[in-house]
Amino acid sequence: MQFRAPRGASDLLPQQQKYWRHIERACVTLSQQYGFSRLDTPVFESSGLFDRSVGAGTDIVEKETYTFADRGGDLLTLRPEGTAPICRAYLEHGMHNLPQPVRLYYFCPVFRYERPQAGRYREHHQFGLEVLGDADPSVDAEVVELAWRLVSRLGLSDVSLYVNSIGDRQCRPVYLDALRSYYRERQANLCPDCQQRLDRNALRLLDCKREGCHQYGDDAPRSVDYLCDDCQSHWDRLLQYLALMGIPYQVDHRLVRGLDYYTRTVFEIQPLEEGGQSTLVGGGRYDGLIEEIGGRPTPGIGFATGLERLTLNLQRQEVPIDEDPSPQYLVINMGQAARETALDVAVRIRQQGTGAILGSAGRSLKGQLRQANALSIPYVVIIGDDEVAANSITIRDMATGGQERRPVPEFLEQL
Ligand code: HAM
Repeated sequence: MQFRAPRGASDLLPQQQKYWRHIERACVTLSQQYGFSRLDTPVFESSGLFDRSVGAGTDIVEKETYTFADRGGDLLTLRPEGTAPICRAYLEHGMHNLPQPVRLYYFCPVFRYERPQAGRYREHHQFGLEVLGDADPSVDAEVVELAWRLVSRLGLSDVSLYVNSIGDRQCRPVYLDALRSYYRERQANLCPDCQQRLDRNALRLLDCKREGCHQYGDDAPRSVDYLCDDCQSHWDRLLQYLALMGIPYQVDHRLVRGLDYYTRTVFEIQPLEEGGQSTLVGGGRYDGLIEEIGGRPTPGIGFATGLERLTLNLQRQEVPIDEDPSPQYLVINMGQAARETALDVAVRIRQQGTGAILGSAGRSLKGQLRQANALSIPYVVIIGDDEVAANSITIRDMATGGQERRPVPEFLEQL
């Protein structure tokens, strides 16, 4: 083989498509129920957008973006996440002038130069949604509840929902100081990445999976103990609303997320089995993002989920998924005259809104019947010399094997 799909990217084969249709259906139905409209943004954006939002010091921007200069010399980046482009579009199209909040959802390919493994790819596909322009904690509660509903509507079980609050511009600096002092005392035992993160991105020390670092997370200072009054009341009300809605959350003090733009609420849905690549849904509030990219201060909150990871979990849990429907009819034909009639009959079947495909020319009757079986087609229309001469067809029910001859006009009428 001279060419294969690039490492970390893959083809979505016909037999996998039903999982995606299943996920897309659930995502669209729920989004519409909750009043979201779809917005699609370009695959690439100006690189600066992600530096300013996701954060120049994050792993995603520092190590994982696909960035290139185009022939005109503009620096562009393949979208490494969907939130910043949605916020950019919200500003660019004046959606801040619409009644707030604005609720938007999207499906998009996402590109991150990561080390590929099961559940982690260099190109993956996200469904995500964002609520822009409303800071009330009831919005956080609804977004978390929507994510929870989505996972259960897909048929997934054995998942847990984790929430945390990481404060805002007011209170986070105080918390970060406490966190840094705690880890400085243990600096010698930290992995090289965490040694570097200590000054630049101390929150990420909490979710380092390496054993040396992981052991310190449980006793580290907790962000919820450092919240300012506003963040505290937002957090209290969120938990109260979640309880009211019957959403079974767990507070995870180590949950910080890997993107710089988050403020206050962060949350994730994980399958019960452990593993770094297992997060199914991740999201949170980002009240400073829109201002950071040039807009008026505008609160926002949302989440995203990876279609590949959802599919992996649907397969692992053996969730039954409807097959994509096959055409109703295979129009089998033997000989040149029969082929002409078959072409015409197939066209007319489709004109009535029913699916039909033509049997392969030159194959025997048996071969074409095998074709119908392989494609799970319930009915075959058989056209040979006899049928052509009588302007009729033979219809065969593949489940029972029963068949009968009918005039073409009558058959078409009864479809
Ligand atoms: P994220 O946690 O980086 O958040 O990604 C969201 C989801 O995308 C993950 O929970 C996971 O299901 C999937 N995912 C991420 N990376 C990969 C990968 N390399 N391979 C396969 N699947 C992956 C965001 O991107 C935020 N924009 C979410 C958000 C929306 N926050 C607020 N609004």
